[in-house]
Amino acid sequence: MSECASNRVNRRRFLQQGAAAATSLAIARSAARSQEKSAGPVRVGVIGLGPRGTYLLRSLVSYFPEVTVPAVCDLKSDRLQAGIELVKKIKGTAPAGYGKDELDYRNMARRDDLDGILVATGVQVCGRIAVDVMRAGKNVATEVTGPHSLEDCWAIVEEKERSGKHYMLLEQCVYGDENLMVLNMIKQGLFGEPYYAECSYVHDIKVDGSGKSRLVEADQTLSWRGRLMVEGRGSSYPAHGIGSAAKWLGINDGDRFTYCNAMMTDPREAHVQVVEQFGPDSKAAQIRFQMGDFHTTLIQTAKGKMIRLDYSITNTRPYSRYYLLQGMNGCFDSRSGIYVRGTGPRVSDPEWRPVGEFLEKHRHPYWHKDAATALKTGGHGGMDYFCLRDFVSVLRDDHEPWVDCYDAAAWNVLNHCSALSIDRKGAPVEIPDFTKGKWEDPNWRKDRPTPVSVLSG
Ligand SMILES: NC(=O)c1ccc[n+]([C@@H]2O[C@H](COP(=O)([O-])OP(=O)(O)OC[C@H]3O[C@@H](n4cnc5c(N)ncnc54)[C@H](O)[C@@H]3O)[C@@H](O)[C@H]2O)c1
Repeated sequence: MSECASNRVNRRRFLQQGAAAATSLAIARSAARSQEKSAGPVRVGVIGLGPRGTYLLRSLVSYFPEVTVPAVCDLKSDRLQAGIELVKKIKGTAPAGYGKDELDYRNMARRDDLDGILVATGVQVCGRIAVDVMRAGKNVATEVTGPHSLEDCWAIVEEKERSGKHYMLLEQCVYGDENLMVLNMIKQGLFGEPYYAECSYVHDIKVDGSGKSRLVEADQTLSWRGRLMVEGRGSSYPAHGIGSAAKWLGINDGDRFTYCNAMMTDPREAHVQVVEQFGPDSKAAQIRFQMGDFHTTLIQTAKGKMIRLDYSITNTRPYSRYYLLQGMNGCFDSRSGIYVRGTGPRVSDPEWRPVGEFLEKHRHPYWHKDAATALKTGGHGGMDYFCLRDFVSVLRDDHEPWVDCYDAAAWNVLNHCSALSIDRKGAPVEIPDFTKGKWEDPNWRKDRPTPVSVLSG
């Protein structure tokens, strides 16, 4: 090696060691804060007690002994009452109830006995509520998909920066067993430099288990899910797909999304379903769904990498989330398997190997240590557990989350940007940089306990 190259390597090592030391110090400080705080309970309020909010509430009070729930909120009195009863049954104390009108959650956010608030309302109001909660001086987590519009995306970033409160997006798919294994393998260098990813959310939510529309309510008004199909044409539920791909490619940690192009089919399926259910002369049959049945967004990054995001909430097929990560040295394809150059029985004849073979060796420490607990608590094959556990850790130890406001904004602004691209016949649309340049330093978010710090530690 030339002297110059050797100096470069030494400098890189020096910088890496410096960054690792700073990370360890910051995480040690966080642990010290945790010891100070961990004596007390972690006090959580919940806004939105539909099926999802109720499930999260039950998980919090059932599986996290340190969590108490002093207050809950929902506009529907039956749901509110059921939430109050649930907490009382498990914890012995009834929480205060809020929900007399659409803004009553603000009264709840003003209480001085809450460390954080979890928001599980429909997506159109999650962003506004999160901003109000931070403005009231509380940490907040929102269910997917989090901020919905371009304005929401900027608003959560600006309020987080102004208030200093934590914003976490409860995106659990990034915690999946295989997806965290891929992250682990990337960090170990097994795929080489990653440069292309595919990801998706294809979930037919047209009807519920009894065959009734989830887009149109019984009174033929739109549900929040129906509004996704009527009010916009973008990739309006991007987080389950894009989250893992963004984490794998280091988006906001050394790279960023720069622009996207999007295309979709015409909408067909939702209309046919509502006509079947409500009749051709019904009010529901007049609804003009504008989001297509299949939707693809191509995203370019500043470092010349690319992601394909597929999306549908009406395709007639079973639930499907597929992912692909391509690196210089191999590939993970959730539908085919894994290939790492130089491995496998016949090196000269590359073939996919089952993902299970790699899981045994490269499983992420979260799953390695706590798979049994995660699986026992249910929730999307266990990944909900790790996501909620990280949320409790954010509140207990007062640290920034892994999936923060910058990720939530970058991922969810794809709704707005892909819609614009579709309106312009697939033309490229710039994606804002919510970090305002901070993304260029791959270490700027290293000082927090996350699934990545567990790997480097
Ligand atoms: N992570 C996942 O896998 C997953 C799965 C399902 C749903 N979700 C998300 O969870 C959220 C809720 O889903 P859901 O199926 O329970 O929806 P839902 O519509 O059944 O429930 C939402 C509840 O929020 C309440 N609400 C709305 N605005 C309110 C306000 N201003 N104040 C108080 N309460 C208010 C409604 O009354 C309703 O009870 C959505 O954002 C959805 O995207 C995530």
